[in-house]
Amino acid sequence: MAMALLLTTQYLTKRFHAFTALDALTISIEEGEIFSLLGPNGAGKSTCIKLLTTLLKPSSGDAIIDGVSVVDHPFRIRRLIGYVPQMISVDGTLTGYENLLLFAKLYDLPSQEAKQRVNEYLGFMELQEAAHKPVRTYSGGMIRRLEIAQSMMHRPKMLFLDEPTTGLDPIGVQTVWQHILELKKQFNTTILLTTHIMDEADKLSDHVAFLSRGKLAAVGTPEELKKSVQSIDSSMEDVFIHYTKESPDSERGFHEVATERKTTRRLG
Ligand SMILES: Nc1ncnc2c1ncn2[C@@H]1O[C@H](COP(=O)(O)OP(=O)(O)OP(=O)(O)O)[C@@H](O)[C@H]1O
Ligand SMILES: [Mg+2]
Repeated sequence: MAMALLLTTQYLTKRFHAFTALDALTISIEEGEIFSLLGPNGAGKSTCIKLLTTLLKPSSGDAIIDGVSVVDHPFRIRRLIGYVPQMISVDGTLTGYENLLLFAKLYDLPSQEAKQRVNEYLGFMELQEAAHKPVRTYSGGMIRRLEIAQSMMHRPKMLFLDEPTTGLDPIGVQTVWQHILELKKQFNTTILLTTHIMDEADKLSDHVAFLSRGKLAAVGTPEELKKSVQSIDSSMEDVFIHYTKESPDSERGFHEVATERKTTRRLG
């Protein structure tokens, strides 16, 4: 059975002055799948997500989500999608319940329905017990689950999760995964995520794409990509190295390293 495509990009490009952060990216994502965008620090993953969520405007090219162009109809796109940024996006001084209610109001849900939905998602994310405690008392994994719940308040067709498991302990990572898989199963939500954990991408994704210096280096199912690197027991880490290895003289700039440090300290 042919799957319906929910998202396609067409030569999607973002330049910052002379620097091309995303270079003519053309990919497609099927409805209801988990698609992982992988690649080294600075490869352009977050830039790509910011273009698809209309936080940045493409320099050229376009992306179509559920028939809507991000260039022509950014406001319509915002109703269709949810976004969890790489950096923290909930208010630590509010409770989990209050954070979610705030977003329900932002999306104009009538009061009764808003409360219902907040409770539904607190339950779905297993946060009922902590619902009325300030978020600054939450663990990293609980904060991530709350952020995902927040991004779903308007029941978007598609979710963009930028490094949903970075900075979490192994149990936090597993719980967040389980909930991502559950989102796909229960709501048929289409998910584009980024991660630096290759094992996670391998197990979780229907398709993965590797970016290297803003360019698409490879795309396929985890199985196809592992086969394509030609060693008997190749892992996703081998695939990563194969497709994104930089020349030895390439130096990582201050900005890239600073970004990485910030990421690591995200929940610290
Ligand atoms: N607003 C901006 N102005 C100038 N350069 C930028 C801007 N945003 C991103 N860049 C540059 O674009 C490149 C891609 O950045 P991006 O954040 O998309 O990388 P990434 O793949 O998400 O990396 P990481 O894995 O570290 O999160 C980097 O070299 C970054 O310095
Ligand atoms: Mg990033």
